[in-house]
Amino acid sequence: MIKDKVVVITGASSGIGKATALRLGKAGAQVVLGARNEQKLQDVANEIKGNGGKAAYLVMDVTNKDDNKSLVNLALKEFGKVDSIFLNAGVMPNSLLKELRVDDWDKIIDINIKGVLYGIAATLPEFEKQGHGQIITTSSVAGIRSYAGCGVYGASKWAVREIMEVLRKENAQDKANIRTTTIYPAAIHSNLINGIPNKDIQNGEEAVRSQTELPADEVAKAVEYVINAPEETDIHELTIGPLNQPW
Ligand SMILES: NC(=O)c1ccc[n+]([C@@H]2O[C@H](COP(=O)([O-])OP(=O)(O)OC[C@H]3O[C@@H](n4cnc5c(N)ncnc54)[C@H](OP(=O)(O)O)[C@@H]3O)[C@@H](O)[C@H]2O)c1
Repeated sequence: MIKDKVVVITGASSGIGKATALRLGKAGAQVVLGARNEQKLQDVANEIKGNGGKAAYLVMDVTNKDDNKSLVNLALKEFGKVDSIFLNAGVMPNSLLKELRVDDWDKIIDINIKGVLYGIAATLPEFEKQGHGQIITTSSVAGIRSYAGCGVYGASKWAVREIMEVLRKENAQDKANIRTTTIYPAAIHSNLINGIPNKDIQNGEEAVRSQTELPADEVAKAVEYVINAPEETDIHELTIGPLNQPW
């Protein structure tokens, strides 16, 4: 059960990460928040505490290996353990490949892939020591289907899927008791599409989302479900989106 579990969340300042932090905080988890925007993190932490929950936060960048370690260390220092980590931080500056937005490609790869790897690297040794743990990541439907304008973002989310599936298999081989779940959201209300530099692609995303999108709390409920599952149950993957989203 979630009560008293220590859950670390990256990308906790906004959207899916924020909704998950608030939901888990209400459910009695001790939540450790990471992202770059201090004011937003503070607001989320205060809201959790205002609801009677427990929270700590660290201003951190998932592209920095040491920051990932510091976030896990904060959880250990404040709450004595880490039960679950939700590696959720991500960006989606989508464009056509022919636009050659190479700096955006780097950003996507650094945040969406390396950020997840560094989060795993910061957590696995603790989980091995504890003899149990749980790693949850936010991939995307773009990690299981391909879309024009989404080449590098999609590749980053396919990479997350591959890393998590191999991690699951290696953990199982070792009988490490580390649960792994990859979540594939479709259109979810958040700030994600604000950073799209190609205006046609951004307008397309806005048009879809004006017709069909889910509140971020629906993904938070999925994370809650995954954490609440019995320790001997591993929910490998979970895809979630609006009922009538055709892609
Ligand atoms: N919304 C959707 O439709 C959708 C669909 C599929 C998958 N996803 C995935 O869901 C995840 C969450 O996105 P969202 O939709 O909730 O968007 P969002 O509202 O833009 O949230 C993104 C979060 O990631 C954090 N972040 C970005 N770069 C970071 C970095 N370098 N270091 C630390 N934190 C960083 C942001 O915080 P700071 O800016 O404060 O650092 C923010 O908290 C992402 O991985 C995204 O790819 C979203």
